[in-house]
Amino acid sequence: MKKLASLLLLAAPFPAASEVTYHRDIAPIVYANCAGCHRPGESAPFPLTSYAEVSRRAKTISLVVNDRYMPPWHANPETTHFLDVRRLKAEEIATIDRWIADGKPEGDPADAPSFPTFTEGWQLGEPDLVLTMGAAYEVPAEGRDIYRNFVLPLDLPEDKWIKAIELRPAARSVVHHSLYFLDQTGKARTLDGKDGKPGFNGMGFRTGSALGAYVPGATPRKLPADLALPLPKGADLILATHFHPSGKAEREQTTVGLYFADTPPSRKLESIQVPPNFGRGAGIDIPPGEKNYRIEDSFTLPVDVEAWFVSGHAHYLCETMLMTATLPDGSETILLDIPDWDLDWQDTYYFAEPVVLPAGTVLKSTITYDNSSDNPDNPTNPPVRVKWGEQSTDEMGSITLSGVALDLADATKLNLSNKANRARVFAQLGRELRDGGVLDRLPAIVKRLDANGDGLLQESELPERMREALLLRLDGNGDKTLDASEIEALREWLETLKKGRGT
Ligand code: HEC
Repeated sequence: MKKLASLLLLAAPFPAASEVTYHRDIAPIVYANCAGCHRPGESAPFPLTSYAEVSRRAKTISLVVNDRYMPPWHANPETTHFLDVRRLKAEEIATIDRWIADGKPEGDPADAPSFPTFTEGWQLGEPDLVLTMGAAYEVPAEGRDIYRNFVLPLDLPEDKWIKAIELRPAARSVVHHSLYFLDQTGKARTLDGKDGKPGFNGMGFRTGSALGAYVPGATPRKLPADLALPLPKGADLILATHFHPSGKAEREQTTVGLYFADTPPSRKLESIQVPPNFGRGAGIDIPPGEKNYRIEDSFTLPVDVEAWFVSGHAHYLCETMLMTATLPDGSETILLDIPDWDLDWQDTYYFAEPVVLPAGTVLKSTITYDNSSDNPDNPTNPPVRVKWGEQSTDEMGSITLSGVALDLADATKLNLSNKANRARVFAQLGRELRDGGVLDRLPAIVKRLDANGDGLLQESELPERMREALLLRLDGNGDKTLDASEIEALREWLETLKKGRGT
């Protein structure tokens, strides 16, 4: 028996002759996979840079690497190949465990690789524009997580194109993540600082367009090829930041670096959300106690698409996310498989190679939720009914695939069909308006609703039941008011509905 055990050890992928030591076997794993975040000044709560630091926490380390809690990486690397995967190999986990079983021998410091030199400062080089929050936001030592939106006025004199955004938190230990949005309406400015502190509360400022996210430890990237996102002059940058109090009061004054493209992109980056609008129209309505609530939605690509990256968004109750692509020949590719969703690690996953999906490919998202008290992430206990919404206690759910039409000539077709998909959310509203015969009586209805007689329909003047959907559908400039041209758009929409096409 003893002999068999030593034979097995010989078969294991270690230098068989000697024991596993910290300096020779463990330090390379820790330097390459942990120290990027676990070093002073970075996001993790303690450093893992020396024998003393690692051996002291060896037990916990074994636990978190075995259940794949660390390094944090939630996409299944076996189904889809991504860049910059933060994940240990099975042999590396076995090495850590054997080192612990052997009594954590230190070994000879001369065997250790040199400590990696991490790029200090901007990872992508000197930005074209650097913005810093006007004032620091105080994050208390204790208490619940905080979702706060910060407005960074850009005051650009001309339209620009963004290649990348790099975010540098001042208090890395409390900034769990930050989502970027553009606000072209000026609305965020009016909300900013109303409660006497920088920014305003809420889980995400979703009026504007999404530009990506900062996740601690993720490698910032420039958009591939000549892709770039539009940054119209007059727009403000919004950081929707999630803070997690660390036990120590901190002051956060975030700095962001923007990298611009020299020329406009030749192709438009298309973000295909399935379901669209962060799941706004997916009918999310999760009964309390429901352990396996599921939403599904699909989208058929109208043209050949080259997909570059994928990301998911949901809140605390979400458990799993899956996006598959069924090609016209019937074969299936998994584009994103998150078996264990974690709101704290909303990475953008870049495919190792762009994925080409032919016209007719069906993208399908399946997202599941656990609204029982068995879900340790459930923000409400006992559980309550949960619907779609922007608060951390509400839910959302969508997977976004970003890419371009393979053929430049197809870009408009892809864009229109993506837009039409987003507009599906309004099908129900459209049916109600049509069945109510609104078109024939539109001038009279507008006149009746326009209580203050200014010719505009303010939010408060719209029928409450339809208010939000009407604004989403028609309020192109996002000022929460329907002006003459937006009312005209309503009339045109009603005409297409009457003719029985479109939503
Ligand atoms: C991308 C950044 C990042 C990387 C890479 C990373 N960690 Fe962490 N780690 C964190 C953060 C942030 C926390 C604290 C918050 C949390 O638990 O999510 C943490 C927490 C931990 C904890 C405490 C867990 C607990 O529940 O008390 C351990 C242990 C740990 N990490 C070990 C490791 C090891 C070992 C590696 C490498 C194999 C690693 N981490 C890689 C960011 C990282």
